[in-house]
Amino acid sequence: MTQSLTIRRPDDWHLHLRDGAMLQAVLPETARRFARAIIMPNLIPPVVTGAQAAAYRDRILAALPEGMSFEPLMTLYLTEDTDARDVAAAHASGLVKAVKLYPAGATTNSASGVQDFNKVRGVLEKMAEIGLPLCVHGEVTDADIDIFDREAVFIDRVLDPIRKATPGLRVVMEHITTANGADYVKAHEADLGATITAHHLIINRNHILVGGIKPHYYCLPVAKREDHRLALLAAATSGDARFFLGTDSAPHTDPNKESACGCAGCFTATNCMSLLAEMFERENALDKLEDFASLNGPAFYRLPVNEDTITLTKGAPVTYPEKIDTGDGPVTVFDPGFPLHWRVT
Ligand code: NCD
Ligand code: ZN
Repeated sequence: MTQSLTIRRPDDWHLHLRDGAMLQAVLPETARRFARAIIMPNLIPPVVTGAQAAAYRDRILAALPEGMSFEPLMTLYLTEDTDARDVAAAHASGLVKAVKLYPAGATTNSASGVQDFNKVRGVLEKMAEIGLPLCVHGEVTDADIDIFDREAVFIDRVLDPIRKATPGLRVVMEHITTANGADYVKAHEADLGATITAHHLIINRNHILVGGIKPHYYCLPVAKREDHRLALLAAATSGDARFFLGTDSAPHTDPNKESACGCAGCFTATNCMSLLAEMFERENALDKLEDFASLNGPAFYRLPVNEDTITLTKGAPVTYPEKIDTGDGPVTVFDPGFPLHWRVT
């Protein structure tokens, strides 16, 4: 018996496309499935101003193959020098859909991030006034905080104080990895959402560390214990409108991953919808996949849902390339460690 599922075309509310040859290679992997994506600004140098976001958007559109349609939703990288007027103008023109907060040093290319949150207060207040969401990489960077605790500590020490100090600020907790993150979202009705990746629904920290270190499962925030993975799975498959897909697909070449100091990031753009369908089916929640991947995100961002659809069909194990060739070197596609049966047809 063929099983199939038709849903509105999904969007990706957290994506790394990079630039140059890497952008050229990975963009079609996303555009094949997703109509739009929130584009992360952590290039070197970062995308800080409206003018830089406009130029990056042009480079993305120039890299899009003929016949594919895709809308990049641009973000600005918040620094202690960000100008609130520039942010407001980039939002008013329709170019920028969010501002991204990286605590300085939290992850790949985050050196220009925020150290002193008092210095960005004016920008955050302007964003609250105009309704522009703040996307937050929610990890503290203090050396004395264990890496597995950094998300939970961030919520208490940074996120909750920022939200209390800035009423009306709309916040997306990006790529949550803990029950603490899911619970914080559920406990606060207004102005708060969270993205969840496909890979954090699949791996826990054992997958990274047991039986030899697996660099392709290393990403930030790092996968946590199994009970946290189960909490994320419950949140994603619940239909709760505050949780939506942000793949955090983050390409790094194999030499940069398979290294004595390997880069953080999982590349899921190629097989993301197959990964999600498999996990939602296991939870008997295929009827919630459209909410998570196609409806909840636009609702939070106050954008229309996509009019076109995709169809997923269940059958023999899906084949997908083990690696994507890029001009910078091979990028390994996320391997869940089990066969996938749902393909986008
Ligand atoms: C991202 C990257 O490579 O840019 N890496 C990751 O592990 N997720 C940065 C980020 O989103 O933290
Ligand atoms: Zn990311």
